[in-house]
Amino acid sequence: MSEPELNYGSYLALDELLSLQRPRSEPEHPDELLFIVVHQASELWFKLILHELAGLDVRLERNDTLGALIAVKRVNALVRIVTAQLSALETLPPQHFAQFRGYLGTSSGSQSEQFRAIEAASGLRDPHFLQVLSDHGPIPELVQKALDRPPLQARFNRLLETHAVTLEQIYAEETQRPLQMLAEGLLEYEQGFAMWRFLHVQLVERIIGPGTGGTGGTLGSRYLQRTVSQRFFPDLWAVRGKFFKG
Ligand code: HEM
Repeated sequence: MSEPELNYGSYLALDELLSLQRPRSEPEHPDELLFIVVHQASELWFKLILHELAGLDVRLERNDTLGALIAVKRVNALVRIVTAQLSALETLPPQHFAQFRGYLGTSSGSQSEQFRAIEAASGLRDPHFLQVLSDHGPIPELVQKALDRPPLQARFNRLLETHAVTLEQIYAEETQRPLQMLAEGLLEYEQGFAMWRFLHVQLVERIIGPGTGGTGGTLGSRYLQRTVSQRFFPDLWAVRGKFFKG
């Protein structure tokens, strides 16, 4: 028997994909599908962001400035999309979430391996981040793989060394515009990611209120507030100050 011809549904595995939204509430709460779809879609975008970050990393490693700039522009577009999705959950009223939250068990966004892998791939290495990682049990392979690569800031600094320029020079000298554009693209990534964190914590407080822990019963919104100021590219922020010293 010959294979059925590939079509839209089979190419995209839609039968499988559309059977993966499985509300747990009984009777099914009409808002639980929204909650599941936004989370699943976010995880799909996280998957793509991780993939594109790996591409960015390779281009930086190969000293391909233009390729890295193209890659970072795509990553930034994806971060904007995943951030915009949070607004769908702003339509979830607190009393509705309270009606099905009990069915989520101990699940919490802080258990998202892909989110931690994105943070690790981007360069988070501070003791607090590593503590949060180990608090969630053994480090998942995906996260470990990202931790084993140099932070993006280190890759970028290496690129500058190859070009025999400093970070200050790429901002000061007109001839260094391509590297400056890349630096600005990375900074935009940082800001975009911080925007996700900010809107997520606003969403959390809007739905479950400040000072309430997650379903995992652990971190809560005060912890999330602190993460908004975490930085992937400390040098890119610090260099600004150099132009304002007397
Ligand atoms: C009803 C909407 C939401 C609520 C009430 C909520 C609640 C929370 C809370 C309370 C935390 C802190 C961890 C904890 O205490 O367990 C958290 C963390 C997290 N959530 Fe959400 N969340 C919502 C939507 C989302 C969505 C749509 C995503 C997308 C995947 C997401 C991903 C995450 C991630 C990745 C973390 C860890 C953040 C970090 O450690 O910096 N959340 N969430």
